[in-house]
Amino acid sequence: MTSLIRSLPVSGVARSILVLACAAPNLYAALSPHAGWSLAPGAEDLILTGSWSCVSQVAVNANSLTIAANSNFVTPINTSGPKLQVQGDFSVLATLSAPSSTGTYLTLVGTLSTGPAFWNGLKRLDVGTSNGSVSVNYWTGGSANAVAQGFKLPAGTGDPYNLEVARIGALIVVFVNGSEAGRLADPGIFDSGQVYLGFNAAPQNTLMVTALAAAIPAAGASKVSLFSSYLQVAQRTGSGLRDLAGPTGFLVGAAVNPSLFSVDAYALTLGSQFNLVVPENAMKFAETEPARDQYSFCAADQIVAFAQANGMKVRGHNLVWQQDLPNWLTQGNFSSADAATILRDHISTVAGRYKGKLVAWDVVNEAIAYGAPYGPQPSYWLTSLGSGYIDQAFRWARDADPAAKLFYNDTGGEGMGAKSDAVYNLVAGMVSRGVPIDGVGLQMHVTVAGAPSASSISSNIKRLGALGLEVQITEMDVRLPVPASASDLAAQATVYKNVASACLANSNCTALLTWGVSDANSWIPAAYPGFGAALLFDQQFQPKPAVGAVAGMLAPSTGQAQISNGGIVIHGGTSPNVSPGSLVDLYGSNLSGLSLTAPAGATSLPVTLGVVQVTINGTPAPLLYVSPSQIILQVPYSTAVGPATVVVTSNGASSVPAPVNVQVAAPSILTYGNNRAVVENQDNSVNSASNCAAPGSYASVFLMGSGPLDNPIPTGGLASAQPLSAETLPTTLTVGGTPAPVIFAGMTPGFAGLVHVNFQVPVGAPGDLPLQVTIGGAASNQALFCVGR
Ligand code: XIL
Repeated sequence: MTSLIRSLPVSGVARSILVLACAAPNLYAALSPHAGWSLAPGAEDLILTGSWSCVSQVAVNANSLTIAANSNFVTPINTSGPKLQVQGDFSVLATLSAPSSTGTYLTLVGTLSTGPAFWNGLKRLDVGTSNGSVSVNYWTGGSANAVAQGFKLPAGTGDPYNLEVARIGALIVVFVNGSEAGRLADPGIFDSGQVYLGFNAAPQNTLMVTALAAAIPAAGASKVSLFSSYLQVAQRTGSGLRDLAGPTGFLVGAAVNPSLFSVDAYALTLGSQFNLVVPENAMKFAETEPARDQYSFCAADQIVAFAQANGMKVRGHNLVWQQDLPNWLTQGNFSSADAATILRDHISTVAGRYKGKLVAWDVVNEAIAYGAPYGPQPSYWLTSLGSGYIDQAFRWARDADPAAKLFYNDTGGEGMGAKSDAVYNLVAGMVSRGVPIDGVGLQMHVTVAGAPSASSISSNIKRLGALGLEVQITEMDVRLPVPASASDLAAQATVYKNVASACLANSNCTALLTWGVSDANSWIPAAYPGFGAALLFDQQFQPKPAVGAVAGMLAPSTGQAQISNGGIVIHGGTSPNVSPGSLVDLYGSNLSGLSLTAPAGATSLPVTLGVVQVTINGTPAPLLYVSPSQIILQVPYSTAVGPATVVVTSNGASSVPAPVNVQVAAPSILTYGNNRAVVENQDNSVNSASNCAAPGSYASVFLMGSGPLDNPIPTGGLASAQPLSAETLPTTLTVGGTPAPVIFAGMTPGFAGLVHVNFQVPVGAPGDLPLQVTIGGAASNQALFCVGR
């Protein structure tokens, strides 16, 4: 049984599957919605699929949830597990048991609190029972006080009872055991289109929930689906730190807390900027083994799931530390032999659960004292097991997960000095004894004044490398007195830059992680009162100067970008004439240290790709591709007709400006092979000398250099199919000099800058004939098009 639990990916699910396998009651048989409605597919059992073991203040027992309140209200809201996404009418149903309740509720939140007070911006609806009545309370974000309303509890309502809270049109309707108990006007609680599930128990109440589901009308367009923030895939920007680091295999990471995945800015910054995560706390001892032999992996599993969904690697942190140990262990009066068994089981269970999924484990953390003379760190493990516990832990970890690199991680020994000497001696001894250690983690919790120099860090990394060890910067933050000034932030950027340069200068230094994603979620303000602003992203998840500093180190330095003489032509062609919105090829040298393409799936092109920006007359141009010798960019739609100036800025250094000529329209037919026009025949095949278009059939030719459009497209945006964007200037097309009827001329949906002209092939002499397009009097190149018989 326990091995079954451990081998399944999500503990909440595993637990429930186990329960189902043993007891197998049909959990949602008791839940039927009111007449004409049915359970929403996928939302039939929100206890089973709700990841409730991640929600604090909810006890997950077999097939039920229990919420118990002592002297205060207890209001657990499931923000880390799935929430409902709703369209149209919907209901949430629950089987609730609260004998003689004085206030127990199903709590549905449309919008979470957006400010410091719990009620700021909060849109929340509580429906339940209180002193023998149906009780409804709601908040709409402007006041701490709920609007309260009561209904009569239908006669004969027993315990447990089925509650159904439905949004039907502009009403909230409450059903008890399938019959309506009352209704009220919907104050717009769920206008966000989402519903977080939760409960509320007034002081001295215990609420038990034995079923939970969502329903929709059996007929109609209403929809309910589940969305889990920990499976959210962040849209990539093309210029995240991970995009710069990725091509070289270097890892940039952040410590994470899965309860924050529901904060969109957090999840999106994490997934677009970093390619490595480490749980800030979720894999530590007290979190993973809160009671002896009872493991809790919910939070850690969510982190691994998020990382997998976003193509990120995971570090494990940590298996052995003197902190974060549960009382059952430290106050358990265990014998030395028992303590060894507990540690061995813990390591094999935790490391075993993530076997093959982690790139590294911090096996032992901070085993050398924080202060001089840097002897062994006093700890439960040292006391119970003696100093041999370190070697032993690494051996157990290797057995549990042979693929993970095993690290010793410590603080304050990042540069050369007495602490790092002690770390060096410890790991050198381990290496000489054949202990399976692969690397050393340098935590790097520093201040501007206290940070070691780049050369000191580099020397330390080098001597560890000489032992055959890898190094990772595992927990970097640079705390500042708050509020931080602009010069503090600049000095902080220099510290980040120095550390990144020291790491990147040594091939055995493989990762740089910060201890948190943004200043909004850092441990620093709590651990060091008066300090904060320690990370790369600010409270609003905006990049701080340190991001540019690290990016500059990750992107190989190129020297000044140079645009070749005459090196700017319309994309895919040779003409130096372009038009607003057209794509342009720019050739030169030192344009970018890396080859990068705008992220697939993005709805618009970025103006920064890696550390490269291009401006036309000072306006940033959207970028499709950058490489050392070529850039593909879009001319901003706002560019004025006439001579224009192009500048490439790479790594902060700008090129000498180069000229380009902008016309109202500059048609340039795309070609392949020996000057063949890119044309799609009526059967969607590519026109070629051996695949000619029949006279009278329809074909589409693709070109660059559009003129003005009837439905203008924003700069960087992709053309849409609805509405189509058509040329406003007269567009004509000739095949072998014969005019062809133009059916449509305009932008190709899903692309930026790509024009297509749909025409009817004229009837005339067959053969390879020159095709030419004219937009508003500007004629294109002539390219070959094969007309059949
Ligand atoms: C810290 C976390 O950031 C806090 O949330 C927690 O309360 C205590 O631990 N060195 C380490 C990390 O190795 O595990 C610590 O993390 C920070 C110092």
